[in-house]
Amino acid sequence: MSVHKEIKRVTTHVLSEMKLKGEKISMLTAYDYSMARLVDEAGVDVILVGDSASNVMAGNETTLPITLDHMIYHGTSVVKAVKRALVVVDLPFGTYQGNSKEALQSAIRIMKETAADAVKLEGGAEVLESVNRILSAGIPIMGHLGLMPQSIHRFGTYSVRAKEEAEAEKLLSDAHLLEEAGCFGIVLEKIPAVLGEQVASELKIPIIGIGAGGGVDGQVLVLHDMLGITQEFSPRFLRRYHNLAAEIKGAVGNYVEDVKSRSFPNEKEQY
Ligand code: KIV
Repeated sequence: MSVHKEIKRVTTHVLSEMKLKGEKISMLTAYDYSMARLVDEAGVDVILVGDSASNVMAGNETTLPITLDHMIYHGTSVVKAVKRALVVVDLPFGTYQGNSKEALQSAIRIMKETAADAVKLEGGAEVLESVNRILSAGIPIMGHLGLMPQSIHRFGTYSVRAKEEAEAEKLLSDAHLLEEAGCFGIVLEKIPAVLGEQVASELKIPIIGIGAGGGVDGQVLVLHDMLGITQEFSPRFLRRYHNLAAEIKGAVGNYVEDVKSRSFPNEKEQY
């Protein structure tokens, strides 16, 4: 008999059971091995290798510049670390909107080269052909509606989406389309809480919110934002659980001081 406790992996099926039972789903981003390992060991249900890596890891202003190769690099690093969470990798801008064949090739590369569990993409009716083609190859998809950062140049701002009735109706109809197509979940970003709650109650698949209120089935945040590593980004929905920027700067400052003052290394720290 094995003395090791079996870790039950989170699957898309587990997530739908969680929704049925009313158990909230926790989701965070991660982009590298070391962080993904900590996040997984801390018990998060879903790890998103988000294209927010473009901002957080590469310092770009938008998510548009990140490439499929970059996402595969991040995805591969994360998957190596994770033992329990479901790992979802974002399809980056320009790899699925052009045509459905290209979309399928992009999704296949992610699944083959990273060994992730699923992909995520932004949009509803506009990308439905790509969604259908990817799903027909047996690749699970998480949708993303509301504020869609890959369309920032069309929106013009990062402000709250779907406040007007027409946009709210389109979002609701897109959410139904994605569910009917077979997506296993949807991220709703920065929309009114009442709309988030309505989508979650009308759909059977789990709805994960970021700035979509408490009436959805789970929450997602960008890891570097909730840990307080990034400092310039402070939307109302962001709860910071730590001020890691201050801690890191303090520790690095102490190291610099110790090197300059010759107190590091001491006698025990050398051979
Ligand atoms: O890329 C990302 O981090 C995301 C989350 C904001 C949901 O899509």
